Amino acid sequence: MKSSRSCLNWLSWSMAVAAVLAACGTGPDAELAGEPVRAADTPVDRSELAPEAATAADRTASDAEDRDHRAPGTADILARTPPMGFNDWNAFGCDVSEQLIKETADLFISSGLKDAGYQFVNIDDCWALRERGPDGRLVPDPQKFPSGIAGTAAYVHGLGLKLGIYADAGTATCAGYPGSLGHEQIDAQTFAEWQVDYLKYDNCNNNSDGTRADFINRYSAMGNALRATGRPIVYSICEWGQVEPWEWASEIGQLWRTTGDIQDNWASLSSIIGQNAPLFWAAKPGAWNDPDMLEIGNGGMTITEYETHFAMWSMMAAPLLIGTDLRKASADTLRILSNTELIAVDQDRLGVQAQVLYNLAGKMVLARPLADGDRAVALYNSTAVPATIGIRAVQAGLPVADAYRLKNLWTGELHEAASMLSATVPPHATVVYRVAPLQRAGKLSPATTFGADLVNPVAGAVGPAVVAGQQASLTATFANLGAGSLRSLALSVQVPPGWTVAAQGATSARTLASGGSFGAGWTVGVSPDATSGTYDLTVTATYLWGRNATRATATSTVTVQVLTPPPAGLVSLTSIPQVSVTNGWGPVEINTSNGEQPAGDGVPITIGGQVYAQGLGAHAPSEIVFYLGGRCSALTVDVGIDDEKTANGSASFRIYADSQLVADSGTRTVTDPALTLTANLSGATWLHLVTDPGPTTNSDHTDWAEPILTCAGR
Ligand code: GLA
Repeated sequence: MKSSRSCLNWLSWSMAVAAVLAACGTGPDAELAGEPVRAADTPVDRSELAPEAATAADRTASDAEDRDHRAPGTADILARTPPMGFNDWNAFGCDVSEQLIKETADLFISSGLKDAGYQFVNIDDCWALRERGPDGRLVPDPQKFPSGIAGTAAYVHGLGLKLGIYADAGTATCAGYPGSLGHEQIDAQTFAEWQVDYLKYDNCNNNSDGTRADFINRYSAMGNALRATGRPIVYSICEWGQVEPWEWASEIGQLWRTTGDIQDNWASLSSIIGQNAPLFWAAKPGAWNDPDMLEIGNGGMTITEYETHFAMWSMMAAPLLIGTDLRKASADTLRILSNTELIAVDQDRLGVQAQVLYNLAGKMVLARPLADGDRAVALYNSTAVPATIGIRAVQAGLPVADAYRLKNLWTGELHEAASMLSATVPPHATVVYRVAPLQRAGKLSPATTFGADLVNPVAGAVGPAVVAGQQASLTATFANLGAGSLRSLALSVQVPPGWTVAAQGATSARTLASGGSFGAGWTVGVSPDATSGTYDLTVTATYLWGRNATRATATSTVTVQVLTPPPAGLVSLTSIPQVSVTNGWGPVEINTSNGEQPAGDGVPITIGGQVYAQGLGAHAPSEIVFYLGGRCSALTVDVGIDDEKTANGSASFRIYADSQLVADSGTRTVTDPALTLTANLSGATWLHLVTDPGPTTNSDHTDWAEPILTCAGR
């Protein structure tokens, strides 16, 4: 018999599931122990499923019980499924306290998060005093933790939850509290005495020579010390992916960070997904890739992006550690964190992280086998425009079948697909289907894809863009992925008030066969009065499916950006819309300098003692983009580092007419007076104001003062 592990790997991605199972044999009927096993809250009715799928489900589950990673005769493995809980760092930084931990634990109970599977309440950095005690032990800060860690743990345990703590494999933690390097035994012993259940072990001030051997030594020292206490303490290795922990850390702890710290923005989230997803092969029960704690609810991303965060963490079998202030969590935050269908995927007892099956141009398809024989398939779109993404069911590891049942784990909708698992995925969204083979096709509404886009958007715009008063062409393509034909398909477009729409050809079809698609086009006239901003164009498809001619509708939305050229005359850039902005710190301020944090925290723009009534307060590195539509001939502007900074600040200012550099300040420092730049913009569609940091990004408060355009009018 092959080893159970190689059988399972082979099995996971085989199309001939039943045959492999026969070759592998099944494992003993051992009880699964350790973390409770969670099932989806809506149990799948298996009576409709193909018989081979049901058999595969049973056999796969029992094979999973025979996996490696568990000493013979022992039922326990720590973190058999990825840890779920809370950690204070992302939302509170150093502002941690017993009160916060207790209130969060209470909220686990009252908000149903405990019932959803969340268990650990974890304390991050800054809980200790700056010095060890006379006995050499770490001392909890009595102001922050009046009952100590032991008292806090007792409270959390009293609620049926677990407590986690933080330490560092260096001389000091990242925030400068005592490190555990050389103190591993006494610290592990102390944590065990306090009844701690989880340790996150960080990597600051590590005195390391950077070799893998050194990392393994430092992390093993604490791992061994924890094990020697005899208390089961989940060990979270936090070395930020520096020396490929996915290759060694499973021997030492239960999870390992694969990347640097997550930030509450899309660039960080999508980059971490790109780094963590390909490491799927390293994860197994008791050994997990950790792409860092959740940012859901912290305000820096859209609801769609937070949904992607949760969906992808669940597909990647990642720890689900809530990183927001639960006392203030919105309904959307709680809805996302409590999606029991996705939690069931994350916590599936097979413990197989989703394999990346396709990854190109910002679009990814991932699939993972689940213990009941279903597959979870994720379609991830990290691009700025909607994308139709899909894969054949057999390529996702499903057996050949007449059709497949798709359950959308965000909407709960059930659909049937003949062979393609596909969806039109909005920008930055992730569709997750739980897929099972069906014995008989024709009972569920057919899966469809429905994409719409502008044919001739304004060149150089980030997404679909149109100019007020002008026309644009819209196309839509509707595809039938179901097993039967559709009838009476009709497409129509809804536009904002004051806009016009006219079909360019046929917009309906009598029938649409399985696997067929139908496209239609429209000319859309943008209202001349439309103000700059985003508008939705919604295409609706209506059709009949099945023997009973059941009526169904689908919609596809294109969010277009309306651009308005500047008016005639001398126009201040502070009065026209910014089409897109990136900024080093906080928002770009209008008529004040950049105070680095929230909107409105700047001071009057002042360069070299000269105060300006108007201007844009940016922070390098920054880029502000304006739409000119070829109407403007010149820009004059005074640039410099704001006087609110007296040291460090230095940056350069550049002006681009489309992609052509038309003015460049060279490096300006805090001591330089304002420099007047004049730029020729003739014929340019776009204006880009760019600032680049000097040697550091420290204090680079880059002012664009009195920025005046000369324009010819609409
Ligand atoms: C590092 C870790 C973070 C957090 C901080 C605390 O940056 O990666 O997750 O624990 O330290 O100082």
